[in-house]
Amino acid sequence: MSKEIVLSGIRSTGNLHLGNYYGALSKFVKLQDDYDCRFFIADLHSLTTNPDPQQLHASVKTILAEYLASGIDPEKATIFIQSDVPEVAEMYLLLNMHVGIGELMRTTAFKDKARKALGITAPAEDDDDEAFERQIIGASTNKRVNAGLLTYPTLMAVDILIQKATKVPVGKDQLQHLELTRRFARRFNSFYGVEYFSEPYDFDFGGEPIKVPGLDGSGKMGKSEGNCIYLIDDPKVLRKKVMRAVTDEGPQGPDSPMSEPVANLFTLLELTSTPEVVKHFRDAYANCSIRYGDLKKQLAEDIIAVTTPIRERINDILADDEYMRRVIRQGAEKARESAAKTLADVREIMGIRKF
Ligand code: ADP
Ligand code: TRP
Repeated sequence: MSKEIVLSGIRSTGNLHLGNYYGALSKFVKLQDDYDCRFFIADLHSLTTNPDPQQLHASVKTILAEYLASGIDPEKATIFIQSDVPEVAEMYLLLNMHVGIGELMRTTAFKDKARKALGITAPAEDDDDEAFERQIIGASTNKRVNAGLLTYPTLMAVDILIQKATKVPVGKDQLQHLELTRRFARRFNSFYGVEYFSEPYDFDFGGEPIKVPGLDGSGKMGKSEGNCIYLIDDPKVLRKKVMRAVTDEGPQGPDSPMSEPVANLFTLLELTSTPEVVKHFRDAYANCSIRYGDLKKQLAEDIIAVTTPIRERINDILADDEYMRRVIRQGAEKARESAAKTLADVREIMGIRKF
C-alpha cells in the first residue's frame, strides 16, 4: 500500500530559528520514516513581500542546508524548491478561476500583511471590512498591496493539492489557509462533478502544540519579532542573547507564581536540558535561592549543545555546492513527476485539451 502523503513548506525569508526547529523541523524528521514526506522551500511565497533578490537566493540556500542539517534525509523525504516545479505556477492560474477575491480578502494573514504594506495599524476589535477595502482600493500605486499577497492562499492550496497531500503539518497561523484549501478542493470537485481532490488536514501530533517562546519576555519566538536564537548563531552570539534575556526581580516568596519572562526561560530549559537540571532550577525558584544569572548560563550552554552539531553540519553542507545541487535536482524531479500528473488531469477536467 502506498504511504500517505505529508507535505509542508517554509518560506525563504531568513535563517531558521529554535522555534522553527522544535515547532517544525524536528517533527518533519520524525515523520519521514512512516510517510511519503515532501518538504519544500516556498520561495515563490516569499516574493509576496518583495525581498531583495540576493537575500532571497541566499535564504533559499541556507534553508536547504538547515533542512538537511536538522536531519531531513533526502533518501527518505523529497526535498525541493517551489520554483523548481513550474507546474505549480500553471495550476495557480487555473485554480484562481475558482477563488473569490472576497474570501481571500477576509483571510486574517492577508489583512495583517496588507495593513503592514500600507503602514496601517488597526486594533483587532476595530476590524471594519468596508474601511479596510476602501483603504486597499484607494492606496496609491507606490504603497500598494500586491495581488500576489491576496492570492497567497491559492498558491498554498496548489502546493498541497498538486502533490495530493492529505496531511499538512503547519503552525496555528496557517490553519485558516488549510481550511481554504479544503474549500477550494470541494469547490473544484463539485463544479466539475468529479471526486478528484481529497481534503487535506493538519497533522495531529497529539498533545499540546509546541510554542517556543522568545527571549524578550514575549510569547513567541519569531522572525518578525526580532527575538530569535538562530540555528546558525555561533556560541558567542548565542551566550550574549541568552544573558540579555528579560527576567524579573526574583521570586516574591516560597512557591510564588512565575512571571511570563521567567516561565519562558524555563520552557526553553525544558526543551534543551535534562530533567535533573530543570528540577534543580525549579526547586531553586520555589525556595527563592535561584540566581537568574546561573539559570541563563546553564540555558546558554544547553542550547549551544543542541545547536552546535547542527551549525557545524549547516556550514559543511553550505560548503558543498555539488551535494546541495544533487539533492535539489533529485527532489525537483520527484516533485515535478507528481505535479505534472495532477496538472495534466486538472487541465483535462477544466477543458484545456489537446486537439
Ligand atoms: P516565523 O514566525 O519566524 O516567521 P514561520 O511562520 O516561517 O516562522 O514558521 C515556519 C514553521 O515554524 C511553522 O510550521 C511554524 O509553526 C513553526 N514555528 C515558527 N515559530 C515557532 C515557535 N516560536 N514555536 C513553535 N513553532 C514555531
Ligand atoms: N504559508 C506557509 C507559512 O507561511 C508556508 C507554506 C507555503 C506552506 N505553502 C505551503 C506550508 C504548503 C504547508 C503547505 O508558513
